[in-house]
Amino acid sequence: MTLAARKDFRLSSQIIDPAILYFGTPVVLIGSCNDDDSFNLAPMSSAWWVGQRCMLGLASNSKTTGNILRSGECVLNLPSSDLVGAVDRLARTTGSDPVPQGKLHRGYRFEADKFGVSRLTPQKGDAVAAPRALECPVQIEARLMQAHPMAEEDVVWRGHLVALELSVVRIHVHPSIVMEGQDDRIDPDKWRPLIMSFQQYYGLALGRLQHSVLGEIPEAYYRPPSRRPQPAG
Ligand SMILES: Cc1cc2nc3c(=O)[nH]c(=O)nc-3n(C[C@H](O)[C@H](O)[C@H](O)COP(=O)(O)O)c2cc1C
Repeated sequence: MTLAARKDFRLSSQIIDPAILYFGTPVVLIGSCNDDDSFNLAPMSSAWWVGQRCMLGLASNSKTTGNILRSGECVLNLPSSDLVGAVDRLARTTGSDPVPQGKLHRGYRFEADKFGVSRLTPQKGDAVAAPRALECPVQIEARLMQAHPMAEEDVVWRGHLVALELSVVRIHVHPSIVMEGQDDRIDPDKWRPLIMSFQQYYGLALGRLQHSVLGEIPEAYYRPPSRRPQPAG
């Protein structure tokens, strides 16, 4: 749609009050260790990335949140869109027993064997004890750096939400998504993330929309200068 054609929509916008603001973000399957050393695996999508850090927005009463706060680590498994069935089999499950009241109300059930239910394959991380999900094309081992309580000034939400700041320790990827000839780069034409938008699943449309001005910046420039590859000779 051209900008001129959008003008009518701009004039007719309306104010709304949606209960959720899930505008569409990639799904992450967080692998963590329970206090008896068994594995937990939980879908979430309020995650964003900057530098070598990831911020996770989580409910305080999730088993995953407790596990990360206690152990200080997890694995961020990124499912591709073809793993949507595995993700959906984990939906409305929790590793918490008993199920917290709020989750009972929304139809959640306790599930001790999350990997069994999802039919994904666990493998302990190299640097962390938390589990990788081997079918996910990206598996990121990470350590907790900070826990930030959210909405503390809000009497309704106080204590219910937490933002966890994680530092990336090691990244495992399937060779099928690596850029040809450049071992340290993901090829965005090959990586097919699973997107959750307003509780529904989507994939990306095939191909690029247009040329990207941002994409003119070499990826290596995002490394600190001390870690950039030096020109030969
Ligand atoms: C696709 C998807 C995305 C989700 N995104 C989030 C999220 O961003 N944050 C969150 O706290 N819960 C999210 N959930 C709900 C959690 O999966 C749910 O709280 C679950 O019970 C957590 O498991 P646990 O209690 O075993 O840790 C999402 C669920 C699905 C299926």
